[in-house]
Amino acid sequence: FFVPELIEKKRNGGKLSKDEIRFMIEGYVKGEIPDYQMAALLMAVYFRGMDEEEVTELTLSMARSGEMVDLSAIEGIKVDKHSSGGIADTTTLVLIPLAASVGVKVAKLSGRGLGHTGGTIDKLESIPGFKTELSKEEFIRIINQIGAAIAGQSKDLVPADKMLYALRDVTATVDSIPLIASSIMSKKIAGGADKIILDVKFGRGAFMKKYGDAVELAKTMVKIGNLAGKPTVAYVTDMDQPLGMAIGNALEIIEAAEVLKGKGHEDLLNLSLEFGAEMMALSGIENDRKRAKEKLNESIKSGKAIEKFKEIIKSQGGNPKVVEDYSLLPQARFREEVTAPHDGWIESIDALRLGLAAMKLGAGRQKKEDKIDHSVGIWLGGKVGDWVEKGKPLAVVYANDEGKLGWALEEVREAFRLSPEKVEKRKLIWARIT
Ligand code: URA
Ligand code: CA
Repeated sequence: FFVPELIEKKRNGGKLSKDEIRFMIEGYVKGEIPDYQMAALLMAVYFRGMDEEEVTELTLSMARSGEMVDLSAIEGIKVDKHSSGGIADTTTLVLIPLAASVGVKVAKLSGRGLGHTGGTIDKLESIPGFKTELSKEEFIRIINQIGAAIAGQSKDLVPADKMLYALRDVTATVDSIPLIASSIMSKKIAGGADKIILDVKFGRGAFMKKYGDAVELAKTMVKIGNLAGKPTVAYVTDMDQPLGMAIGNALEIIEAAEVLKGKGHEDLLNLSLEFGAEMMALSGIENDRKRAKEKLNESIKSGKAIEKFKEIIKSQGGNPKVVEDYSLLPQARFREEVTAPHDGWIESIDALRLGLAAMKLGAGRQKKEDKIDHSVGIWLGGKVGDWVEKGKPLAVVYANDEGKLGWALEEVREAFRLSPEKVEKRKLIWARIT
């Protein structure tokens, strides 16, 4: 193939063949195709899009660029869950022990947070001793023993995505549906799970700001998964306000533990029950959604769910007592409330603004090399549709840097809008796509 001809073909709206796509990805990873040619192709894809066959081939070529994880040594059907990224999105931390406590095999490969969205690996590392770098043998052994394990993605997983993402980042080609879909799905496919659940977020705190775009992204990823032989279900869910009450690493461990003890906020619980039921259906454990949710609720009530969380923590070297004694988690020096200036209903909470505020307090990274402060963050006092009285907390800010504290308090204040009139709660689950 002659690279300029392939670029021209896509530029003119043509369709690339499987061989042509594979040639471009393999050549780029080997360093035979330079950045400037790949950048031109990405821009052509940005404007011209890709059809189902093209985006599936792109995804598979990317997935095969590095290690393909083999989980066949784990008995049963392995289900992976992935969120497109959100604020106070503690679902994965709740879901892994919850699903494992009813018999689902959970092999979770997670990333670190970047920018305003948190990463499960960072959150877990706020637990003293918790190890997220597991060898393949350890990972498989733990799942076979207790039903779940969570490990950081190895450096060899989908090198093509690392290269392409870095190039997209500097060429204004990140927000393209085929490029996002192939980026996410290549990592899921290389990760080795049999079936996949996707949580595609939309709203102020999400990649996709508009509902219609989130639906299109979800449909594209479901198509890719199914064509690649990995049955995939996608949910489109609200990320206009934060999902849970906690934003920040140790704080989210506390919130996950609260939900697993039956004391958490209803939104995070409901989303976890929905995904838990979906995982039970996909693994062939329980097809009836209502009965599945009953089993999950029963697991919370009986204490099985929180026990499973402790088991997971212990098996990965962490101190399981943190789920009973939260003072064993990293503590911030300053803890200050933002109070309601007057009575009212919470009308909106700007998820992105809170996510960025938490990041700048130290809960997240602006650059890959940044170190995280596990103790800092924000705990919400209410969500959209809740009534608050003057002087009651809208949120509590946890900080270690007195200089940043004042700034963060102001950001949090600005993120809340109160209304004198009653406000409806926001709908959480908008679509389920199969
Ligand atoms: N998440 C990814 O992994 N890739 C993208 O391109 C966007 C979100
Ligand atoms: Ca309140």
